[in-house]
Amino acid sequence: MSNYQNIIVEIHGGSATITLNRPEKKNCMSPALHAEMCQALVEVEAANVKVVVLTGAGDSFIGGMDLEKCFFDNWDEPARFKEGVGYSFEWMRRLKAFPAVTIAKVNGWCFGGGMLVAGLCDIAIVAEESTWGLSEVNFGIFPGGGTTWATQANMPSRKQALYYSLTADTFDGKEAVTLGWASKSVPLADLDEATQKVVDNLLRKGRIVLDFTKQVYERTRDMNFPDAIDYEIAKLYELSRLTNDDWIKTALQSFKKREYKPGLQSYQVAREDI
Ligand code: ACO
Repeated sequence: MSNYQNIIVEIHGGSATITLNRPEKKNCMSPALHAEMCQALVEVEAANVKVVVLTGAGDSFIGGMDLEKCFFDNWDEPARFKEGVGYSFEWMRRLKAFPAVTIAKVNGWCFGGGMLVAGLCDIAIVAEESTWGLSEVNFGIFPGGGTTWATQANMPSRKQALYYSLTADTFDGKEAVTLGWASKSVPLADLDEATQKVVDNLLRKGRIVLDFTKQVYERTRDMNFPDAIDYEIAKLYELSRLTNDDWIKTALQSFKKREYKPGLQSYQVAREDI
C-alpha cells in the first residue's frame, strides 16, 4: 500500500476503511488529497475487498472541497487548476462505479463535495449530530462537479432539492435520512458499532451477488419495465453461471432441509471467491 499523507487506508479481511485525515482543516479535499484518493481506490479495488468504508478523522466527515487549495490558489493557473480538479472527478467516477459495496460513515461536518461523496456511496450510516449543507450558493456558485446530479439522485423531491440547493440551509443526520441522503442515523457514540454491524452483515454475503445487486440497480434505473425484466433475467443466468449455481445448489438446498430461514439470515456461500 502506498504511503499517504492526507488519508489513512486500512484493509482487514474482506473490508477496507479509507479515512480522510486532515482533521485540522475539517477534512476538506485538496488537490493532493484528491490525487491520493485516486491511487487509494485503485489499490483497494486490486485488494478485492467486499466492502469499503469512507469516513473522516476528528469531528468532520468532509468539509467539502478545499476552497483555498482547489480554487483560490490555482485559479490563475488553468493547467494546475484542471489537474487538481481532474483528480477529484477521477476518483468520484471511480467511487460511483466501484465493484465493492461503498459505505459513507458520516461522523460530522458534511458540506458540498462531502455530500457528493456521501451521495455516491451505496450506503450511508450517519451520526444524528452530523451537519449537512449544500453551501455553494453561500460563496456564489451552484453545486457543481456532479453535486447537483447527486442531489437529484439522493433527494428525489424537487421541492426539497431546490430548497436546500438555493438556501444552503443545513440539516442534521436524522433529516439526511428523511431527505434520502442517508440509509440510517444513529447517535455519534454508536456510529462505529452500527457501521461495523452493517459491514459484518455484508461480509457474510457472496461477492458476486453484492456486485450484481449494485449493477442491476444502476442499470435498470433508466430502463423501461419490459427491458428491465429481460436484463434482470439475463443477469440472473450470468450470476448462476459465475457462481456455479450456488444459490440453487447451496442456499436453496439448505433451505429445503430447513437449516435456515432466508427471511432472517444469509446462507453460507460455498466458496470465498464467489
Ligand atoms: N476549505 C478550506 N479550508 C477549510 C474548509 C474548506 N472547505 N473547511 C474548513 N476549513 C479550514 C478553516 O478555514 C480553518 O482553517 P484555519 O485553522 O487555518 O483558520 C480550519 O479548517 C478549521 O475550520 P473552522 O472554520 O475554524 O471550524 P469550525 O468548527 O468553526 O467550522 C465549518 C466548521 C462550519 C465546517 C467551517 O469550517 C466551514 O464553513 N467550512 C467551509 C464548508 C464549506 O462550505 N465547504 C465547501 C462546500 S462546497 C464544495 O465543496 C465545492
